[in-house]
Amino acid sequence: MSKLISVALLGAGAAVAAKLISGNRNKIKSAAKKAANLTKLTYPVNSKYDNGVALTPPMGWSSWNLFRNRIDENLIYEMGIALKKSGLLDCGYQYLNIDDCWHSSMRDKDGRLQGDLVTFPSGIKNLVERVNELGLKLGIYTSNGTLTCEDLPASLGYEAVDANTFAEWGVEYFKYDFCHNIPIPKTAPNIEKLTFSLQGSSEVTECKADDAILSGDAVIVKDDSLPDGKYITGLSANAGSCEWLNVYADKDGEYNLTLCIRKMKNTDKYIEILINGTDIYKTTLPSTKSFTPDGKHQIKVNLKKGTNTVKLYNPVASKQDSAAIQYTNMGKELKRATKEFAQKSGTAEKPIVYSICEWGRNFPWKWGKQAGNLWRTTGDIKPVWPSVLAIYETNIRLFKHAGPGGWNDPDMLEVGNGKFTIEENKSHFTLWCMMAAPLILGNDIRTFIKSDGSVDTENDVYKILSNKELIAVDQDACGIQCRRIKTNGMHDVLVKPLENKEFAVCFFNKASEPFVMEHSLKDIVFRPFVETPYAKQYSVRDLWSGETEIVDNVISATVPGHGVRAFRVKAL
Ligand code: GLA
Repeated sequence: MSKLISVALLGAGAAVAAKLISGNRNKIKSAAKKAANLTKLTYPVNSKYDNGVALTPPMGWSSWNLFRNRIDENLIYEMGIALKKSGLLDCGYQYLNIDDCWHSSMRDKDGRLQGDLVTFPSGIKNLVERVNELGLKLGIYTSNGTLTCEDLPASLGYEAVDANTFAEWGVEYFKYDFCHNIPIPKTAPNIEKLTFSLQGSSEVTECKADDAILSGDAVIVKDDSLPDGKYITGLSANAGSCEWLNVYADKDGEYNLTLCIRKMKNTDKYIEILINGTDIYKTTLPSTKSFTPDGKHQIKVNLKKGTNTVKLYNPVASKQDSAAIQYTNMGKELKRATKEFAQKSGTAEKPIVYSICEWGRNFPWKWGKQAGNLWRTTGDIKPVWPSVLAIYETNIRLFKHAGPGGWNDPDMLEVGNGKFTIEENKSHFTLWCMMAAPLILGNDIRTFIKSDGSVDTENDVYKILSNKELIAVDQDACGIQCRRIKTNGMHDVLVKPLENKEFAVCFFNKASEPFVMEHSLKDIVFRPFVETPYAKQYSVRDLWSGETEIVDNVISATVPGHGVRAFRVKAL
């Protein structure tokens, strides 16, 4: 039953006035709930992105950390060759990712993104083909905004067209940044009525305010300035909805839906229209400066012959909701685009690893699994020790959110960049492996190839990045991020369960002086998240020295300043 509120001549303040009408306890509760929702995620998270890739953390190389905007197609290709020649591809580093600055400030004549006309003159499709011939997969980047962080064209509002372009090019990794983002408005329009008509006809089926089923905060407000004399309000911020259950259509097909609105507020408005419980149409209405009280907003929707249900609501109550919805939109387009392109071209589908990069601002670990394959948990990494440490401190706590197909991303590796000591480089790499982080290299791989074409296997950075036993810890099929089981602020003990009832344990010494650390294996195997059985003896393999010891209970090790010791443990 509709709730009718009599307020004569309500103007732009109608919604506010309507809220004041009923002072009962439920209204107060609902207002409190609404206020709380304005800061938290109300968007439902109940599924997984599930595109069949990134079942272990993705591994590759990216242009950003070292080269920033100074990139071109030759540099990218050379890096691909170096990945292959150096054996790093065989270690698992398979994605060659071009970060920001690959594209022209101009979309092409069809509105599609295109490579920079000077630095990527052969085009990205061509580069993908050459890179694929090397056995590598190409990755690309834009932003969930009007521009990228380097102010180049980006994909907000162009999700479908850009996803189609990437799928047609054969891109297999996509990083989606957050610069120049415009959040979805929390405000919903006020609805006087809906009309549906067929193209070319002025005959309409009307859905009047009085015939709607209202829920939540939705109410009808009387307004003599409108033709119908009333409108529905209270649909903003995921707090209310209105629904018509018997919208009759003569035949299946596309209809013009006109939202007859009560103009209000100098702010953009957003509404979703759910038809027959399955088809969702999304639309944004402009802010108003006009003098007339009523306005029209039209979109195309499909109706089926007979009766249809039509429901209107705005699911966005917070910035988190907005980010979750926008990132989810792009993810859906990527999945649709790769599938459609495979069908159209008769080739195997190339799913795109979808990397969400909104710097942890909107708690992406809460909704990222549903939207994509990995999500940055922090701001940008820098090639200095305090940056690695700060990122680790945030990311280590998020262990319960990571798993096959959806990973916490503490950002790309800076190993080999800046002025890290060898111990710091080893620690950075080891911590990322323990945290089941994506391993995206950020250094100049070409330096690993000597002038005679052979691989510089003695290069310290190369030895770190190609440590297959550490990589195996990162890539373990269980996909469990380590937990910090003990810390005194300076010395941490980390445990990561692995396949075959094994686990990795890492001692991390944040102090600058060496420190002797020890931990009892019995304490570890009796923890519920560890499946390793209790045993009289364990084999303990040092993942940096390659030495294996048989240990009864306590592992003890001298850990260098800013250093780690890491072991793989098996019950005997
Ligand atoms: C942001 C991202 C970085 C990088 C740059 C590119 O800062 O967090 O990882 O992609 O943009 O402009």
